[in-house]
Amino acid sequence: MAKLRLFVAIEIGDIIKKRFRECQERLKAAGGGIKWVDVGNIHITLKFLGEIPVEKVEQVKRQLQSLQPVAPVAINIAGAGFFPNDRAPRVIWLGIEAPPELGQLAARVEQSLESLGIPKENRPFAPHLTLGRFRAVDGLAPLLGILRQQEPVQMGSFTAAEFSLYESQIASGGSIYKKIARFPFTPETPRAG
Ligand code: 2AM
Repeated sequence: MAKLRLFVAIEIGDIIKKRFRECQERLKAAGGGIKWVDVGNIHITLKFLGEIPVEKVEQVKRQLQSLQPVAPVAINIAGAGFFPNDRAPRVIWLGIEAPPELGQLAARVEQSLESLGIPKENRPFAPHLTLGRFRAVDGLAPLLGILRQQEPVQMGSFTAAEFSLYESQIASGGSIYKKIARFPFTPETPRAG
């Protein structure tokens, strides 16, 4: 049975993409060991769905469509850190500061997909932008040194106007992410009176 590897995410504004790349360039001076994310691929993951049978994809889209209206969310990119920690890191990321509505949106996405048999995450939602993934943990001390020089890490803000359903294709040069459906946020209609 054909399957698509899917996830739901918010794309980042162009100015932040430029700063993201500049941040990666500074960090690359620390040496090897990290596979840096292609800036064209950066996003804030709201929900990773995993492998979904092709015939279920329309149902997924309908469920996500039914979440609207969702108001635009102001997102600030600030701080940096490691998953799971800085002693044995697997991922280096930039942090996300956002109002509770972002976490609520992630929870609503998750809830709406649970009815399709897509299991809930057992970890709390930790929004982030993945800068890179560790292949080997060498050069950690220089990396931490460069990060410390950058502090406080401030990448700027943008207002997310939509979230999207993405397909992830695993290719030899790294994953290719394709947007397969977009779900624009709807500004809240001002109430009369
Ligand atoms: P990330 O957000 O930390 O980079 C596609 O693989 C996207 O889904 C990536 O952005 C990835 O992580 C996110 N994701 C979340 N959980 C995942 C999992 N269990 N396997 C693969 N990707 C996952």
